[in-house]
This record gives sequence, structure tokens and C-alpha cells, in this order.
Amino acid sequence: MGERLAGKIAIVTGAGARGPGVGNGKATAILMAREGARVLCVDAQKDRAEETVGLIRAEKGQALAFAADVTHKADCEAMVAEAVGRWGGLDVLHNNVGIESRQTLMDTTEDEWDRVMAVDLKSMLLATQAAVPALERRGGGAVTCVSSVAAVRGAWGTAYAAAKAGILGFVVSVANQLAPKAIRVNAIAPGTVWTPMVEDLGPEMRERRRRAIPLGVEGTAWDVGWAAVYLASDEARWVTGQTLVVDGGLTLTTR
Ligand SMILES: NC(=O)c1ccc[n+]([C@@H]2O[C@H](COP(=O)([O-])OP(=O)(O)OC[C@H]3O[C@@H](n4cnc5c(N)ncnc54)[C@H](O)[C@@H]3O)[C@@H](O)[C@H]2O)c1
Repeated sequence: MGERLAGKIAIVTGAGARGPGVGNGKATAILMAREGARVLCVDAQKDRAEETVGLIRAEKGQALAFAADVTHKADCEAMVAEAVGRWGGLDVLHNNVGIESRQTLMDTTEDEWDRVMAVDLKSMLLATQAAVPALERRGGGAVTCVSSVAAVRGAWGTAYAAAKAGILGFVVSVANQLAPKAIRVNAIAPGTVWTPMVEDLGPEMRERRRRAIPLGVEGTAWDVGWAAVYLASDEARWVTGQTLVVDGGLTLTTR
């Protein structure tokens, strides 16, 4: 067990994974627990959160599963109340939840747009609003929002790219507002990491994605998780309003 997050109480949203394997939220919850945090593993599907909790407890870490849909204000307030009620406070909110949309401009329906905006962007607002009073009571804390390189490159679906770019605006606005309360707010922009979320792309696309990465190595959810640990830890005490790009150099290449 590490100690980088010793004594901290963290919420990770979307801490389960949609399929076999390790997604970004699951890896982040496991790594935060390995570094000493008590982690509330939140997921709309509780069995998924429970699986992550089982893995953490098997390593003697501390975690609880909690069912919440972070597109609903009342659920966000309930998840914060659970962390505070069980453990006495909150230090870290890791806003991982996000769903993909691969639809182009002309194929994006109004329903698809609204669904992606609610899950990928509104959830950041609601979860962060719910967490701020608890973070403030601890004298400060860290909020990290998972964006994507889709926010700055043109190769992804329209609603997804727009929502992920929205997160970057959300982060700089909120970081500025919350700095006087010692609450740091940052984004992580993962590149083409291989997770259950993209499993359906298949082996050929997987290899194409890997070959496009300047470092030549496929990224995993653990790469994203380590970035999350850093931003949540006191090592990042002077870092706020930033986007940490974790992409093996993908955004260095031309479009
Ligand atoms: N895999 C990639 O290549 C990649 C790249 C860039 C960014 N990302 C981002 O990483 C994040 C998620 O990664 P993951 O690997 O953990 O994905 P995942 O699909 O495995 O999702 C994690 C969990 O989120 C839960 N969830 C979905 N909607 C929810 C809601 N409204 N409320 C509560 N829980 C909900 C799901 O039940 C699932 O168990 C997303 O924000 C995604 O956009 C992924």
C-alpha cells in the first residue's frame, strides 16, 4: 500500500466498468485505494461498483459501493451524504462518468445530443455542486473531471467532442471560483486508451489506434488512474485549472 492519498476520502463516479476488464473509473478507484484513500465507488449499476469494491477489499483497501445516477441532483447529493456519513468528510471528487457518441453532425439526433450532454457534462455540474460544501468543511480538496482528447481533435463524434470540450470550460471557470476555498479543479484528457468502453471497436481498430500513438505503446486505464492519483494528492497542491493530457503523444501529431 502506498501513502500518497493516506487519510483522504474520495468519491469516484462510474467506478464500475461496462464490461470485463478495467475501465478508467475502476482503475482510478483501485489506485486511489492502494494509495490509502477510502473510496466511495459510485455507479448507476450497483453490481458494477460492487465488483470494484470487491477487488479493493481483496487488496485490504477501504471502499464502499453506492448506486447513483449522476445526471440527477438528488443522487449526487445522496452520494456525498453517504461519504460524509460513513467516513466523516470528503477530500476528493473524481468525476469519471462519461458515455461515448460516435454520431457525425448530420446523424446526431436531438435525443442523442441531450443524453450525451446530460451524462458527460451536466453530471460534472451536479456532482461538483453537491461536493463543494463538504470539501469546504475539510478546508479544501480536489475535483478532477475526465474529459478526452476528443475535445481538441476532430476525429470523434460531435456530441461527445462538444461535451468533452465543455468540461474544459467548466474546469477553468470553476477552478477560478473555488481557488479561494482551496479546492483545486482539474481535467484529465485521456487519449485512445483501451478500455471496455471501446472494446466493440475490434482488434483491427485497436491496432490502428496503437500505431497512431507516437510512443508506440497502447494506453490503459491504469495510465489514466495514475494521473488521477497525482491530481487528487497533495503533490498537486499548486495545480489547478489545468488539463493533464494522457495520450502517449497523440495530440502532438498533425490532425
Ligand atoms: N476509453 C477511452 O478510450 C477513453 C478516452 C477518453 C476519455 N474516456 C473517458 O473515460 C471515462 C469513462 O471511462 P470508463 O473506462 O470508466 O468507462 P465505462 O464505460 O467502463 O464506465 C464506467 C461506469 O460508468 C457508469 N455510468 C454511466 N453513466 C452513469 C451515470 N449517469 N451515473 C453513474 N454511473 C454511470 C457505467 O455503469 C459504468 O460502469 C468517460 O468519461 C470517457 O469519456 C475514455
